[in-house]
Amino acid sequence: MNQEERLVSPVAAPDDLFDSDLRPRFLSQYVGQEHLKNNVEIAIAAAKGRGEPLDHVLFHGYPGLGKTTLAHVLANEMGASIKVTSGPVIERAGDLAAILTSLQEGDLLFIDEIHRLNHVVEEILYPAMEDFELDLMIGQGPGARSVKMALPRFTLVGATTRTGLLTPPLRDRFGLALRLNFYTPAELVEIVKRSAGILGVPIDEAGAAEVGRRSRGTPRIANRLLRRLRDFAQVKAEGRITATVADAALAMLGVDHLGFDEMDRRIMLSLIDKFQGGPVGLETLAAVVCEEKNSLEDVYEPYLLQAGFLVRTPRGRMAAPAAYEHFGRVMPRNRQCELPL
Ligand SMILES: Nc1ncnc2c1ncn2[C@@H]1O[C@H](COP(=O)(O)OP(=O)(O)O)[C@@H](O)[C@H]1O
Ligand SMILES: [Mg+2]
Repeated sequence: MNQEERLVSPVAAPDDLFDSDLRPRFLSQYVGQEHLKNNVEIAIAAAKGRGEPLDHVLFHGYPGLGKTTLAHVLANEMGASIKVTSGPVIERAGDLAAILTSLQEGDLLFIDEIHRLNHVVEEILYPAMEDFELDLMIGQGPGARSVKMALPRFTLVGATTRTGLLTPPLRDRFGLALRLNFYTPAELVEIVKRSAGILGVPIDEAGAAEVGRRSRGTPRIANRLLRRLRDFAQVKAEGRITATVADAALAMLGVDHLGFDEMDRRIMLSLIDKFQGGPVGLETLAAVVCEEKNSLEDVYEPYLLQAGFLVRTPRGRMAAPAAYEHFGRVMPRNRQCELPL
């Protein structure tokens, strides 16, 4: 399924571009992730105290949880400039060399999807991160020579969905590796109210709670649902978002009271009805629901796992009792014994 069309996809869609006003700019505006914020605060204070650039930082977490936002927050808090690029965009060693040599002392370089750098480019990054040195081979064959150049001290900020996707030498060169978790319902309510304030749409406490509950622990989804509700409320409910308005609108848009949609239903019911609850290998499951293995793993599964609907076992994916209940199926008694505790 096209992620751009899916209302509860954690992946950025074109109209999420309007979100830039909603992005927190400083740590004080960044809701939740308390553990991570504490670490970041200490790193910033220490770097400022020493008058040095920040250590290289790696953020890992599922799409939509706030990695890109944090990279910009870091730059704002350090009073530094930030250059933004991403793993798949940097194709050749020369591309990265051009970026690195354009940096100024103390700048942040944000590489999104850093796990998608190719290995030639990645090897240029090692000495750049460790010794602030550019080490480039010019030419090919017998005439080839290596050129070394000093780089300004910069901070590399990397983002990835899973640290396991990074090669160990790259992972080890980050001073800080911080993980983003799904947000709690209370944190999402806070985010929804903050965003509603910025968008100028009236929402009551129960309305915000309803949006929060259906946002799958993900701020990007919370903001997207809020924008859709704003339209709905404007046309059908005199502009105000209450729990009743939120419930009616989201039901109409195919998002149930826990934030699950048709695709979640398809995944869970395939497991339950076609495979008696599993275990089923990831590839088989992906084929049955006509999805790519990677997007099943990165986009659909995380929240199903978090919600306790799906269980990963060494033999494959299994449906948990909560999923049977939510999607209106009865779990055979003998199946329950097979689930890992
Ligand atoms: N901690 C947070 N507090 C408030 N809003 C947030 C927070 N984290 C993310 N957001 C909102 O969610 C949206 C998606 O965040 P983003 O940083 O683009 O996620 P990622 O890069 O991890 O996919 C942002 O536009 C921002 O408005
Ligand atoms: Mg991002």
